[in-house]
Order: sequence, then C-alpha cells, then structure tokens
Amino acid sequence: MHQKIKKNEGKPLVIKKILTKIQIKKVLNIYNNLPIEINNKRQKIKKKKWITSYEPNLQAIIIKKIKKKIGNFKLDNPRTKDGLDSFGLFQESQKPVNLHVDTSFNFKKILFKQFLLPLSSRGETVIFKNRFYGYPTTFSIDSRELKAKGYNKRSSEHLKIFKSKNFDKKKHKKYLKHENIENLRGLEIEMVYKWKIGEILIWDRTQLHCSSNNIKNKKIGFTVLTCK
Ligand SMILES: [Fe+2]
Repeated sequence: MHQKIKKNEGKPLVIKKILTKIQIKKVLNIYNNLPIEINNKRQKIKKKKWITSYEPNLQAIIIKKIKKKIGNFKLDNPRTKDGLDSFGLFQESQKPVNLHVDTSFNFKKILFKQFLLPLSSRGETVIFKNRFYGYPTTFSIDSRELKAKGYNKRSSEHLKIFKSKNFDKKKHKKYLKHENIENLRGLEIEMVYKWKIGEILIWDRTQLHCSSNNIKNKKIGFTVLTCK
C-alpha cells in the first residue's frame, strides 16, 4: 500500500554549509518581514510562511543544492491562509515541539523528504526510527492535548502500532523530559540532531520526530515538506 513511499525512504542526512552567512542573514530578514500566520500561545509557538513569490532566487539556491544530494522533488507545503503557495514554514518556539509526524491528508501523494534549516544555534531535533503512514498527527496520551485542535490530528494510535517496549529511561531524561515516557512506548531514537546554523537536516516525512527538551529561551527553524 505504501510501497511507492517506502521505495524513497532512507537514513536522515545532514548537508553542511548549505548557506553562507550572508544568505542566512537574508533568510532571517525574510523571516522578520513576513506576517505572522499562527500564534499559538498554548504551545508557545509562532509560525510564518515563506511565500514562493518572495525572494525566489534564494529559494532556487537552496533547492538546487538539496536536489544535488537527494534527487528531484516537488514542494508540498500547506498554503498560507490567504491561499498563496509556500516554500516552507518558519517556527519560533519557546517550548519543545511534541511528538508528531508531518505526513499528508492526501494519501495519493508520494511523500518524500522534509528539511530543517536551523536559524538559531541552540536546539536539537530527535528523529525516531518508527514510521507512520496515516494523516499528519500529534501523538499524545494527554487528554487535554487529545482534545486540542490544530492542523494535525491528535491521536494515541501509535501505541497500538509499535511494540510496547519501555522507552530508554536515560534517553528520556537526557532529551525528552517534555514527553510522558509512557507516550514513547515502543519508540527508538534514530538520531538526535544538534542544530547548527548553515546546515540542513533532511529526513523522511513518515518518521516520527520532536524537539528535545534542551532549549534555551527560544529557537527558530525553517522547515520544508516535499513529495515526489
Ligand atoms: Fe515536524
């Protein structure tokens, strides 16, 4: 059923020196100039979308470098609330982002990779080996979170899919204190990526992921979703 997606799956990948200091400054400028799309006070996160008609040359530079590494792809980001195409999403968060997957509501799409461009130097992203092929979902066992509304579906169905092995206590304490350890049952970490400005992290859209709890003040990242 998901054979076409699975065919393109692989290990996470980091591309070093994807942008120069001047280009990063430009990206931050773009971020500062864009209007806020979502301001979620509960999750302490602000989101802005990079509209494709805004600084297209810089987008082209980034896309070209990534295509060299992973081959051809199409952008697959949700549109802005005004219906404009988006190159990706800026997220400024003061709280670690919880366990989720960034798949698609359209099952006909051949999901491919997602990218993260760190724009602040302190942050970590935890990528799990576990994969999910349903709707974009935030995975939780917290009743308040399960009732919350957002772009993602809320669910605890992951606990039925993955083996109910206890999550590694040491890793929980080191990286994932913001998650209930029971919510991580059956999960196994594939990679903890330490944010570095100028790099880009690439991984499969079917992989569960979240921030680590090691966050200072706030972090800003830019993410892009793709399909084949
Ligand atoms: Fe994500």
